[in-house]
Amino acid sequence: MLLDEVMQVSTKEQLVKKTSEEFKLQYGTTPDTVTLTPGRINIIGEHTDYNDGLSMPAAIDRWMCVALSKSNKKASTIYSINYKKCVTMSTNKSNATQGSWIKLASTSIDVLTDEFDLQEGGNVAIGGNIPIGCGLSSSSAFIIAITHTFCQLFSIQIKNRDLAYLCQKIESITLGINCGLLDQYGIILSKKNHFMVIDFHDDHIEYIPVHINECSWLVVNSQIHRELSDTAFIQRMNECQEGLDILKDKFNINGFRDIEETMLLELQAEHEVIYKRLSHLIEENKRVNDMKDQIQKGSADNVGMLLKQSHESLKSLYQVSCKEIDYIIALSENFDGWYGGRIVGGGFGGCSIHLLTSHVVDEYNSYITTNYLKKFDLIPDIIKVSFPGGL
Ligand code: GLA
Repeated sequence: MLLDEVMQVSTKEQLVKKTSEEFKLQYGTTPDTVTLTPGRINIIGEHTDYNDGLSMPAAIDRWMCVALSKSNKKASTIYSINYKKCVTMSTNKSNATQGSWIKLASTSIDVLTDEFDLQEGGNVAIGGNIPIGCGLSSSSAFIIAITHTFCQLFSIQIKNRDLAYLCQKIESITLGINCGLLDQYGIILSKKNHFMVIDFHDDHIEYIPVHINECSWLVVNSQIHRELSDTAFIQRMNECQEGLDILKDKFNINGFRDIEETMLLELQAEHEVIYKRLSHLIEENKRVNDMKDQIQKGSADNVGMLLKQSHESLKSLYQVSCKEIDYIIALSENFDGWYGGRIVGGGFGGCSIHLLTSHVVDEYNSYITTNYLKKFDLIPDIIKVSFPGGL
């Protein structure tokens, strides 16, 4: 069970205070260092990062906080404030359950120990207010928070893209998936009040100001839990790869970015599912570029339309949505002042992101809460997000 207390902590300052207090209760001293790592949102460009595509993430004002001191011994001890549980780990090979926070922590510490020949472990308290497993990168933030804090305390000079690659490696080992870099780039490389336009093909990053007049970005947590390691996620990756391999045999292409829409017609008859997956990829990449233009123009209507198109594609072509989030989107269509929204992150549950006129935010909140509760007997968590910049 999650400890609601820490999830409800709203400011960075309160989170630092809470984490430091919990550290003291656990270890009897004050920590040597305390750090904050944000979660991330992705405006558009979903399920594109591992396919050489484009995405538009930004760090958000939800955080993972780590308090750390050297342990004066080989082993490290981690106290999770969210789960109210303490684990000492001299090796990760034993009792760690796949995907759990213990496995994330132990893999992070193992990789750090191996790569940088650490002779000493750490005492850690970690807690945060990023909704867990909901599409806002709580797992990546967790890994980055631990890795970055150890690097800071042990004077390991690794940051920016190199830190992102290291944390991607840790996440891939932990989850058994070759993850993309969306989460790590979004969390580490974001700039305050900007969205990043990332091209994963050549690793190019452009920053665009987030400002759209009199509008707010909202995240609605459906409370439907998902696991990144779900077979469906891996299946999507494999289907895209299979599609690329088929097209490589038919056309003179090297990678996903060489695929043209007309080539997809070759897949339509015999490989309908793969056709759908790759259609999403090609169209979603285009939407990222269109979104960049529309945000720069400040056109809330067109930004909203692209969000809606992305959701439809994730629902019908990539098939990673769920009935609860489809319902939230359908409900929103009838709400004045809602421009658009879509499921965010890996999918199959979790959060959706929405663009609204600022003055209707409270009204929207009660409208969605009332109807969603009635339909699914669940209370959605609705938060307004801002973009404070990355690590
Ligand atoms: C998860 C992964 C990301 C990305 C998204 C889908 O959040 O961690 O790398 O693939 O799903 O866009």
